[in-house]
Order: sequence, then structure tokens, then C-alpha cells
Amino acid sequence: MMNFKNVFISIVIATALIVAAFLIHRARPAVELDQPGPEYVRATGKCVECHSQETSAIIHQYSTSKHAKKNVTCFECHRPQDGQEEITHKGFTLAKNITALNCRQCHTTEYNQFLRSRHSAPAWAAVSGQKDFSAEQIAYAEKYHPGTVIRPANKLAIIEGRGVMNKGCEACHSIGKPNLDGSIGTCTACHSRHSASVALARQPETCGQCHMGPDHSQLEIFNESKHGVLYLSQKAHLNLNAPAKELTTRDMPVPTCATCHMSGLEGMNVTHDVTERLSWWLFAPISKKRPNYNLGQEAMKNTCLKCHAKSHVDKFYIEAEEVVHSTNEKVQLALNLVAELRNEGLLSPEPFDEPIEFIAFDLWHYYGRTAKHGAFMGGADFVQWHGNYELLLKTVEMKEIAKTLRNRDSPKR
Ligand code: HEC
Ligand code: HEC
Ligand code: HEC
Ligand code: HEC
Ligand code: HEC
Ligand code: HEC
Ligand code: HEC
Ligand code: HEC
Repeated sequence: MMNFKNVFISIVIATALIVAAFLIHRARPAVELDQPGPEYVRATGKCVECHSQETSAIIHQYSTSKHAKKNVTCFECHRPQDGQEEITHKGFTLAKNITALNCRQCHTTEYNQFLRSRHSAPAWAAVSGQKDFSAEQIAYAEKYHPGTVIRPANKLAIIEGRGVMNKGCEACHSIGKPNLDGSIGTCTACHSRHSASVALARQPETCGQCHMGPDHSQLEIFNESKHGVLYLSQKAHLNLNAPAKELTTRDMPVPTCATCHMSGLEGMNVTHDVTERLSWWLFAPISKKRPNYNLGQEAMKNTCLKCHAKSHVDKFYIEAEEVVHSTNEKVQLALNLVAELRNEGLLSPEPFDEPIEFIAFDLWHYYGRTAKHGAFMGGADFVQWHGNYELLLKTVEMKEIAKTLRNRDSPKR
């Protein structure tokens, strides 16, 4: 009897151990389980050995990526490229900073498209001007976007000071920051470092890290549009992981920011040049047609046409352009008023030191832009209440201030 009990206990313990071992094994990241070649073990295995203890979240992120599936090792990204500062790390020579240059080794097409977009040098120059770029970089960017890099640092940023510039403006505009190795920008703003995911890049929230707030309310506009509402309710049924070159309307019958601005839906070209499908400079105080107006508009309309009828799309564009024209007129009136006051000697030559200048700035920078962006991306509330209503209110306020300035100061002259 005693004997049987001992045998029984040892069987129970042995089973428990096997189950426990299995559970522990299963809980380990996939990378550790299926390491294929000796190369992979040398590079990834060694890194993973320590880093599953040191910074385990990185290993978990990496193990879900396409890179892990295709045996792109830690070392392949982390090894130094020409011009990169090196560090010695546990027997490996690694790059001190990983930039777009490291991604470019394998993704030259994406890098080159990115480089000619406004996400590249123009984004950084919008805040800091041309001083951080080489002559070659300036020449390249100016070829695609004249006047966007050769310009002074932004006045408002300078007034607000270094700390704000760093944690504010530059946090978003660093998407086009020049790196010490001669490359420009960061790919991880949309893909993240270790999950390198197209699904993440297709989420509106990813673009919304920067494309939000009163001066460029694209995320808010999208969220209130039919597209955004459908996306939210049908997200679970979408195949956000579909490979970029094979993306169909079955994977994503509902568009997100990426679909309209970047995706290769149904055989279109995938593009990292977010400028490619645009026809107006909507962000400008007075919007003008871009030089490639026809091509840009056609490319965007072709995307719409994967899901909509032509009549529907043409009507949409005609109505949106109507809003561009009427906004231009309203903004022009306000800008004229400020110019007149300045000519009359009632305002100092400095920007941003008198209340009416802030009102004029808000008028085009918040409300004018919002009205135009709302019209092109389906945000009725932004065309009306956050846009045109405010345009009217601010115009009335500005006229009042102008009257006071003229009355107050006229006796002096
Ligand atoms: C012998 C253990 C070990 C190995 C092998 C190892 N690391 Fe590390 N690594 C560490 C430790 C410890 C840290 C410091 C973590 C911290 O600061 O909390 C670190 C930090 C890092 C950092 C951050 C460096 C910094 O300070 O900015 C990077 C990047 C890195 N490792 C990449 C790698 C890569 C890639 C490999 C494989 C080629 C690798 N490591 C191999 C232990 C290791
Ligand atoms: C697709 C390229 C890529 C791969 C593959 C990759 N990394 Fe990284 N890793 C990056 C980038 C980009 C950064 C950010 C570096 C920077 O800001 O200079 C980074 C940063 C790190 C850091 C510092 C993170 C922090 O937040 O402090 C560690 C540690 C690290 N990687 C370890 C690894 C390990 C271990 C692997 C393999 C399991 C790996 N990486 C694979 C691109 C990669
Ligand atoms: C050593 C080569 C190599 C490097 C370096 C590299 N990748 Fe990749 N990347 C690949 C391969 C291979 C694939 C898989 C391609 C495929 O399946 O068609 C891939 C796929 C991707 C994808 C598509 C993922 C998906 O879900 O479809 C993205 C996004 C990506 N890489 C981003 C990056 C970024 C960002 C960096 C730099 C931080 C980088 N890669 C560095 C080789 C590399
Ligand atoms: C890290 C911040 C950041 C993220 C993330 C980001 N953008 Fe941008 N984007 C910018 C900045 C800054 C500009 C303005 C560049 C300039 O004109 O100076 C911009 C400009 C644009 C433009 C206008 C380009 C032009 O020619 O006027 C489009 C379109 C755009 N982004 C789309 C997207 C989409 C789609 C995503 C997500 C897939 C995205 N962005 C993610 C910062 C970001
Ligand atoms: C939350 C992210 C974010 C912050 C913070 C931010 N920007 Fe921007 N900025 C953007 C985006 C996104 C655009 C593109 C808007 C569009 O095309 O509709 C943009 C557009 C611009 C433009 C117009 C495009 C161009 O190239 O001329 C200028 C100028 C600009 N920003 C300067 C600044 C300055 C200066 C600061 C700080 C005082 C700042 N931004 C802070 C995200 C940001
Ligand atoms: C503004 C956000 C954004 C930035 C910045 C960005 N990507 Fe992408 N990337 C995307 C989106 C969105 C997709 C998926 C497009 C789609 O829906 O098919 C994508 C897809 C990819 C793919 C898969 C392409 C294919 O045809 O299979 C690769 C590889 C890639 N990106 C690499 C990079 C590299 C390298 C950089 C830096 C030079 C970069 N990305 C910068 C948003 C971005
Ligand atoms: C249904 C398609 C569609 C979706 C979804 C969409 N956009 Fe747009 N977007 C457009 C169109 C159309 C324009 C105006 C194009 C033109 O200039 O002809 C535009 C304009 C822009 C601009 C303006 C550039 C400028 O000149 O000021 C930015 C930036 C932008 N979109 C970013 C985004 C972001 C970020 C999202 C997601 C939060 C998004 N878009 C979602 C179609 C779309
Ligand atoms: C990937 C598919 C897809 C793309 C691309 C797309 N849409 Fe849509 N759109 C939809 C769907 C789905 C609806 C919801 C239709 C419904 O109510 O059943 C919708 C709704 C709309 C609506 C609202 C219709 C209404 O009567 O309420 C407008 C306007 C619209 N889209 C315009 C556009 C424009 C303009 C573009 C291109 C810039 C575009 N869409 C790109 C799928 C798409």
C-alpha cells in the first residue's frame, strides 16, 4: 500500500514538472524557440539571451514582427553603417544611434520616396530653418519643394524658447530631422522600433500623434467622418496586417489616413511620399494649387474610385474646392486689415507682440485650415462650427480692435 502511494505521488509530481516545463517553454518568446541558422543564433541568440532579462519587452515586440519571421536579426539593424558612430557592446560593435540609414540597407525604395516628401527635410526646416542641412540635402529638397528648406528658423518657436522647441515643435517635426550620419528622418515614427508593423502604420492614431489639435485637426476630422466611424466599428473585421503590395478592398473596405495618402490599394503604387496625392497647399494662409495639381488630384481620386463612383467623387471635390475659394477670400480680408494697420503705423513691425496679430494668426492657422481640411476629409463640424463660425467671429473682433486703434491713436497724428 505504502509503495503504491509513493509511486502515485511521484507520478503526480513528475507530471506537474512536465506540465510546468511546457508552460514555461511556451511562455518564452517565439524567437527563442525557433532560431534557425548559426548566423541567427550568433546575432539574435546572443542579444536575446541577455535582453530577455534586461529589456524583455523589446524581445516580445520583435518576436511578433515580420523581421523575426524573415530572420532579420537584431544585429542587422544595430550594426553600424558608413558614417555612423560606433559603440562596443558585450563583444559586438554596434551603431550608437539607429536611423533611417539602417533601414535603408534593405528598404531603399521606401527611403527614397520618404526623402522626396514633405515629411523629410521641409518638416524640420519648418521649425529650425536650413542651418542643420548640408548643401546637397538642401539642393535635393528644394528641387521637389522650392522655398521649404531655404528659410529662417520659425519666429514663434524662437520667441517661445529652446525647451519648448525641443519638447514641442521638434517632437513632431523630427520626422524630417537630419541625422549625424547624413541620412534624414526616422522610419520608426510610424512603424515603431521593434514591431516594424504595417498594421500600426495603418492606424489613424499613429498619424494622429502629430496630425491633431486645432491647427491640423486631421485625426479629429477623420474620427467624425463616415470613414472614421465605420473604421471604429468594423476594425475587428479588417485585415490591417495585409502585406502592402497585396492590399485589397477585402482587407480594408474602409479607408484610414494611410489608405488615402499612402497605400497601394488594389494594385496602386504604395508610396512613402505623402505629398504625391495632394493638389492644394491647404495648410497655407491663402491656399494655392500645387505645381502637380492635376497629377496629385488624379492619384487621390483613383484611390477614392476603388470604393466610390466617379460622379460621387467629382461632386465631393467640387464642393471641397468651393470651401477653399471662400476661405481664401475671408482670410485675405483679415490679412489685409493687419497690413493696413501696420502701414498706418498702428502696429509694430514685429509679429506676435500685439493681440490683433494673434487673432489674425488663429484665424488662418486654426479656423481657415480647419475649414479646408474638414471639407476634404468629411468633417462637417470642422467646416462649420470650428471653421467658418470662428472665421466670422474673429473677423468681427478684428474690425472692432482696428476701430479702437484708429480712434485711440488718431488724435496723436
Ligand atoms: C551579455 C549580455 C548582453 C548581450 C550579449 C547583449 N546585450 Fe545589449 N545590453 C545589455 C545590458 C545589461 C544593457 C543595459 C540595459 C540598461 O541600461 O538597463 C544593454 C543595452 C543595450 C542597448 C542600449 C544601449 C544604450 O545605452 O543606449 C542596445 C541598443 C543593446 N543593448 C543592443 C544589443 C544588441 C543588438 C545585442 C546583440 C548584438 C546585445 N545588445 C547583446 C546586455 C547585453
Ligand atoms: C528593424 C530594426 C531593428 C531590429 C531588428 C532590432 N532593433 Fe533594437 N532598436 C532599433 C531602433 C531603431 C532603436 C532606437 C535606437 C535609437 O533611438 O538610436 C532600437 C533600440 C534598441 C534598444 C534600446 C531601447 C531603449 O528604449 O532603450 C535595445 C536594448 C535594442 N534595440 C535591442 C534589440 C534587440 C535585443 C534586438 C533583437 C531581438 C533588436 N534590438 C532588434 C531597431 C531594431
Ligand atoms: C537586413 C534587412 C532589413 C533591415 C535592416 C530592415 N528591414 Fe524591414 N524588412 C526586411 C524584410 C526581409 C522584410 C519582409 C519583407 C517581405 O516579407 O516582403 C521587412 C519588412 C518590413 C516591413 C513590413 C512589415 C509588414 O508587416 O509587412 C516594415 C514596415 C519594415 N520592414 C520596416 C523596417 C524599418 C523601419 C527598419 C529600420 C528600423 C527596417 N525595416 C530594417 C528587411 C530589413
Ligand atoms: C512624428 C510626426 C508625424 C507623424 C507620425 C506623421 N506625420 Fe504627416 N506630417 C508631419 C509634419 C511635421 C508635417 C508637415 C511637414 C511640412 O510641410 O513642413 C506632415 C505633413 C504631412 C502631409 C502633407 C504633406 C505636404 O506635402 O504638404 C501629409 C499628407 C501627411 N503628413 C500624412 C501623414 C500620414 C498619412 C501619417 C500616418 C501614416 C503621418 N502623416 C504621420 C508629422 C507627422
Ligand atoms: C503635435 C505635433 C506638432 C507640433 C507640436 C508642431 N507642429 Fe508644426 N506641423 C505639424 C503637422 C502635422 C503639420 C502639417 C499640417 C498640414 O499639412 O496640414 C505642421 C505644419 C507646420 C508648418 C507649415 C508647413 C511648412 O512646412 O511651412 C509650420 C511652419 C510649422 N508646422 C511649424 C511649427 C512650429 C514652429 C512649431 C512649434 C512652435 C510646431 N510646428 C509645432 C505638427 C506639429
Ligand atoms: C508617415 C508614416 C510612415 C513613415 C514615416 C514610414 N512609413 Fe513605412 N509604411 C507606412 C504605411 C502606412 C505603410 C503601409 C502602406 C499600406 O497601407 O499598404 C508602410 C509600409 C512600409 C513597408 C512595406 C512596403 C511594401 O511595399 O511591402 C516598408 C518596408 C516600410 N514601410 C519601410 C519604411 C522605411 C524604411 C521608412 C523610413 C525611410 C518608413 N517606412 C517610414 C507608413 C510610414
Ligand atoms: C478618404 C480619404 C482620406 C482620408 C481617410 C484621410 N485623408 Fe487626408 N486628405 C484627403 C484629401 C482628399 C485631401 C486634400 C487633397 C488635395 O490637396 O487635393 C487631404 C489632405 C490632407 C492633408 C493636408 C495637407 C495640406 O495641404 O495641408 C493632411 C496633412 C492629411 N490629409 C492628413 C491626413 C491624416 C493624418 C488622416 C487620418 C487621421 C487623413 N489625412 C485621412 C483624403 C483623406
Ligand atoms: C477603401 C474604401 C474607401 C476609400 C478609398 C474611400 N472611401 Fe469614402 N466611403 C467608404 C465607405 C465604406 C463609406 C460608407 C458608405 C456607406 O454609408 O455605406 C464611405 C463614405 C464616404 C462618404 C459619405 C457618404 C455619405 O453619403 O454619407 C463620402 C463623402 C466619401 N466616402 C468620400 C470619399 C472620398 C472623396 C474618397 C477619396 C478621397 C473616399 N471616400 C475614399 C469607403 C471608401
